[in-house]
Amino acid sequence: MSNRTEFTAVAHNPSSRHRPALLALSLASFCALLALLAPAVSQSQVTRSTPKPIPPNEAYMQPVPGLSHGELRKFRNGEKQFKAPWVVFPLLGGEWGLGPTFLANSCVGCHVQAGRGRTFDEPGVIAFQQLLRLSIPGEGPDGGPMPHPNYGDQLQVFGVNVGLKENLKPGEAELYIDWVPFPVTLSDGTVVELRKPSVRLEKPNFGPIDATVMTSLRNTQVVFGAGYLEAVTEEDILALAKMQQTVGLNGRPNYVRDDINKRTALGRFGWKANQPNVKQQIAAAFHGDMGVTSSLYIEENCPPVQTLCRAMPPGNKPELLDYSWDELHFWQLALDAPAPRNQDNPQVIRGSQLFTQARCAQCHIPELRTGEFPALPQISKKTFRAYTDLLLHDMGPGLADGRPDFKAGPRDWRTAPLWGIGLSAQVNGSTNLLHDGRARNVLEAILWHGGEAQASRDLFAGFSKQEREDLIAFVNSL
Ligand code: HEC
Ligand code: HEC
Repeated sequence: MSNRTEFTAVAHNPSSRHRPALLALSLASFCALLALLAPAVSQSQVTRSTPKPIPPNEAYMQPVPGLSHGELRKFRNGEKQFKAPWVVFPLLGGEWGLGPTFLANSCVGCHVQAGRGRTFDEPGVIAFQQLLRLSIPGEGPDGGPMPHPNYGDQLQVFGVNVGLKENLKPGEAELYIDWVPFPVTLSDGTVVELRKPSVRLEKPNFGPIDATVMTSLRNTQVVFGAGYLEAVTEEDILALAKMQQTVGLNGRPNYVRDDINKRTALGRFGWKANQPNVKQQIAAAFHGDMGVTSSLYIEENCPPVQTLCRAMPPGNKPELLDYSWDELHFWQLALDAPAPRNQDNPQVIRGSQLFTQARCAQCHIPELRTGEFPALPQISKKTFRAYTDLLLHDMGPGLADGRPDFKAGPRDWRTAPLWGIGLSAQVNGSTNLLHDGRARNVLEAILWHGGEAQASRDLFAGFSKQEREDLIAFVNSL
């Protein structure tokens, strides 16, 4: 990998990732031609071979090309798992096993259409598409954060209700986000009003959550393309870190606990790259976000003081069946990223040059390559354009959460992939960006960059209005 290819972003020509679409298109026009030449080809045959346009809100829900019939069936079953509602035993209307405490009753309740979470602007609404990680000082088991003795390592804001009012089980606490305005002035005098979250916890049910408790607010992430991110070899990621040192950056991998293989592994998923692989990420989401146990996390999520929680009968043991986990895992690996758009638009081309000029591409690495990936051979040895390095960077005090997460320090965040970012609004209405959802658009997200990205941010802030708009148009085309 040469520095030049890694650190420059060119608005790209249709790559191999597009070829199937082009092929399908030319096949369609070929069929249309056939129809003209030979009226014997029936109209229905022609229509069947035309690819259906993807509805705007389904842009993040497409499978990678090349799945067999059987694999497509598995993909659809996995999608059903992603959408399936969970209920508390013995209520009807879903899978048994929700709670006793939880944040949402389905994956899709937070990852609407596989997209980002949305923040509420009104002050009185309990946040649930944003979750609050908690820990107390010190290192927990396996080098991770030390869970709070009464609340664990993540706050669940709801408790299950088994019908009668007196049976309503308490959530752990109510989580509200108050937005504090934070205006910044750019070099041409433009004032941009940023905002910063201030977390407010009310009605803590299991004792006070005092100032020594470290918290980290995390917005719901997009989930497509995870297979590609998992398939990059560790060697390639470490090579990127080394290469960044030559330009004065300090990208570092996180090393986290792999509970499945019982070892330390490179972290890839989550805002601080605190999850090593998709399979574990899913089990952790079931456990932490929905209160659903699995063969990996078999015990209900009830710290010792939560006696009502501990007394509840489980929906099953474990509540998530291994084959459902497997189907959802397959879906998650095979969920494709949307293709870039408008790559030959002059503004987008200008923006891609500015993206390189402002050194965005030093962290948001345009192109990566997967290694051998037996779990889904269709994505083995492929290049893909996610615009990330999967490394942690010190992003400065403005973005700091003050809470370490394995090897990720209190100011460190994983370079967020930028693919598909411009489709976020059409997918589910959310344009919220950054780890806590504070940025309401790409402009705000860039202006929050500090630390290792300060120079890059300042180059951007020094651009003319037209140049800033060009760069943003490029980011939104990815
Ligand atoms: C309460 C809302 C919520 C629910 C429910 C939820 N998630 Fe998430 N998800 C998140 C948040 C927040 C993150 C980021 C976590 C972090 O950084 O600590 C995330 C991260 C992820 C990621 C990592 C994406 C990346 O690029 O790193 C995947 C994959 C994922 N979730 C899948 C799932 C699946 C599958 C389910 C259902 C079993 C699920 N989630 C349920 C909120 C939720
Ligand atoms: C030093 C590495 C680095 C550089 C340089 C950098 N970024 Fe980032 N970028 C990050 C990290 C890390 C995050 C995640 C920060 C967070 O969530 O708090 C991020 C987040 C973003 C996001 C939000 C994505 C999302 O899904 O929330 C956008 C947009 C973005 N960067 C664009 C840019 C642009 C444009 C530039 C150049 C002007 C740039 N970045 C330069 C590391 C970098």
